[in-house]
Amino acid sequence: MQKAKTLTIERLNVVWPHRDHSHRLVRDLSLSLRAGEVLALVGASGSGKSMTCAGALDVLPPGVIRSSGRVLIDGQAVPGAGLRGRIVATVLQNPRSAFNPVRSMADHAREVLRVARIDPAMDSAAMLDAFAEVGLDDPAHVAGLYPFEMSGGMLQRVMIALALLSGAPFLFADEPTTDLDLLVQARILDLLADLTARRGLGMLIVTHDMGVVARLAQRVAVMEAGAIVEMAPVAQIFAAPAHPATRELVAAHLKLYEGEPA
Ligand SMILES: Nc1ncnc2c1ncn2[C@@H]1O[C@H](COP(=O)(O)OP(=O)(O)OP(=O)(O)O)[C@@H](O)[C@H]1O
Ligand SMILES: [Mg+2]
Repeated sequence: MQKAKTLTIERLNVVWPHRDHSHRLVRDLSLSLRAGEVLALVGASGSGKSMTCAGALDVLPPGVIRSSGRVLIDGQAVPGAGLRGRIVATVLQNPRSAFNPVRSMADHAREVLRVARIDPAMDSAAMLDAFAEVGLDDPAHVAGLYPFEMSGGMLQRVMIALALLSGAPFLFADEPTTDLDLLVQARILDLLADLTARRGLGMLIVTHDMGVVARLAQRVAVMEAGAIVEMAPVAQIFAAPAHPATRELVAAHLKLYEGEPA
């Protein structure tokens, strides 16, 4: 298959039918992500960022429904099962909960290869390469480790390595550094920036941290109450935020840094 160039989410609606009321968690959301580009999805807590990713990939929590919308790859509709692990890799907030506690890192890598339909027997070298590429020292040792034997930062590196291993052209990263300490956060962000640039991946990064946005993203989509209220290049978001929700995020970010010693 030719490497995919564009992922488009088209008019996605996610609802939670509850009692006599249907809560609209994502409202008519459309966006396009190009290979080689980092698009940040920002917004207050509860604005629907995670539901957007989960809705696009068909991994919504029980009881929550995608009522309409589809995902197109280079113009062609692909269901969630066809996207996950093959066209879209994911990196999540809490690396520890993303790993099976009774399986080693090599087991996880084999599973990724299976889903991506890459012959696992062929590719233990690729696994070790991917571990090395994300800065894990001694990849052969790491391959034999279980989640409890590893730090959060190490697990997050493995999660990124597994994303690379899948060969997926797109990456959804939902708050990939929120649960890590500050120093590790910075390293993981640099790693993501470097890898997406070098491999030409298209990354949708979900964050509420405008510092992360400034560091990584080229474009920004701002969400409020389930809808995108502003979408613009990163420089414009900081210099001339148009929507009140955007202004609030930028102001909160600047305020955070105001009192800081130079
Ligand atoms: N399992 C669930 N069932 C029903 N509603 C849910 C469920 N999980 C989240 N919600 C609701 O969906 C809305 C969007 O939540 P979502 O998790 O997408 O927000 P978010 O923007 O990712 O927030 P955060 O920055 O806190 O991660 C919120 O109003 C939330 O209360
Ligand atoms: Mg979220």
